[in-house]
Amino acid sequence: MYKLVIKGGIPLSGTIKSAGSKNSSLPILFASILADSPLTLKNTPYLSDVSTTLRLLMDMGAEFVLESDGSVCVDSSKLNNLSADYELVKTMRASILSLGPMLAKYGEAKISLPGGCAIGTRPVNLHLKALEELGATIMVKNGYIYAESDNLVGATIDFDQVSVTATENIVMAATLAKGTTIINNAAQEPEITDLINCLKLMGANISGTGTSTLTIEGVETLSGATYTVCPDRIEVGTYLVAAAITGGSITIKNCDPKDLRVVLDKLTDSGANIVTEGDTISLSMDGKRPTSVNIKTSAYPNFPTDMQAQFTALNAIADSSSTVTETIFENRFMHIPELLRMGADLTLEGNTVVCRGVKSLTGANLMATDLRASASLVLAGLAAKGTTTIDRVYHLDRGYETIEEKLKSLGAQIERVQD
Ligand code: UD1
Repeated sequence: MYKLVIKGGIPLSGTIKSAGSKNSSLPILFASILADSPLTLKNTPYLSDVSTTLRLLMDMGAEFVLESDGSVCVDSSKLNNLSADYELVKTMRASILSLGPMLAKYGEAKISLPGGCAIGTRPVNLHLKALEELGATIMVKNGYIYAESDNLVGATIDFDQVSVTATENIVMAATLAKGTTIINNAAQEPEITDLINCLKLMGANISGTGTSTLTIEGVETLSGATYTVCPDRIEVGTYLVAAAITGGSITIKNCDPKDLRVVLDKLTDSGANIVTEGDTISLSMDGKRPTSVNIKTSAYPNFPTDMQAQFTALNAIADSSSTVTETIFENRFMHIPELLRMGADLTLEGNTVVCRGVKSLTGANLMATDLRASASLVLAGLAAKGTTTIDRVYHLDRGYETIEEKLKSLGAQIERVQD
């Protein structure tokens, strides 16, 4: 097992380049199941969730090649095992994204139920109900979803709740369904737009991209394509908060500032000077202590739940008091007890954290619990006085490509050491 050792108190400075988006890469890799020829994906990040997705696809009978330029060429056109086993699914809930494509292309799928996770129960009822509305027969038995359909048929899907992966699953399934599917109350995250742009390149007929109503006209077949994954807005947001929390100044290249509008507004409110130019974002705190900002998470285009933990760390050392309210996941507060161990003054009241900013945190031995909670502990460690160690860094490797290398290049003192 590896841990990160961070000597805090150094303002970050320098320039880095963002990685490709994790939450785009995963659905797009699963979309390769729909194609009759190989799909080449450029700008795919080196992350354990991407490796898990490729392993799942390989177990199903797909083949892939990592090209010398870093792109991944996946041929999922001839699957011979239409199932996803618990051992892999339990490590990555996004495995549920194989359900829609397998059902649409092959008429059957057997997928382990993902189960709960550290941040909440995270059911898949919306995925299953919508697939049934497209004509699938679904049975849940012994922890597995068994789905089959002779032919999916387009329908109007009214989601009761906005869900990112449920929207993606149904969009993918509907591309090969007979007739028209209309999805109302669709999620509008930029990663869904990225998936749709790739599906269109593969031959899908989809309109309403980026809105809450999507219309998909089913087609007979889809082919492979070459597609470049969009930048990872959550990775970019995390490094911007890292700069803000340490009073530093950094520039990030290869981003899409428009996808980060709310996050950039909150950072500006916290006292950061932000300049965007083309695909570059620069943030400067000029050594200032950040000011607290109130946060309430909600579906895109509102404040992302995947940035909540990082802003809680920022508020922990910011000037004055604030509240952080989580409305998407009921238990996304695993970072709070760890931040308290560093001297933070935070109180959890229902789904709201009341943050009374302290002047500084002190280094401590911490346990990473889930992906974004772990990121917030790294940020707190970068700002804290003394040394912080973070155990179970495999959570971070799911979503942050070469995190310690990037932070080191910004001047941080951070090492990955083996226990
Ligand atoms: C995706 C992202 C994750 C992000 C989340 C919210 C990927 C791979 N993951 O997760 O990083 O934090 O969106 O932006 O893209 N729900 C149900 N029933 C369902 C599905 C969801 O009740 O069938 C609930 C969830 O428990 C949650 C809410 O809907 O309370 C939204 O979750 P959802 O958008 O589905 O999250 P994911 O797609 O799993």
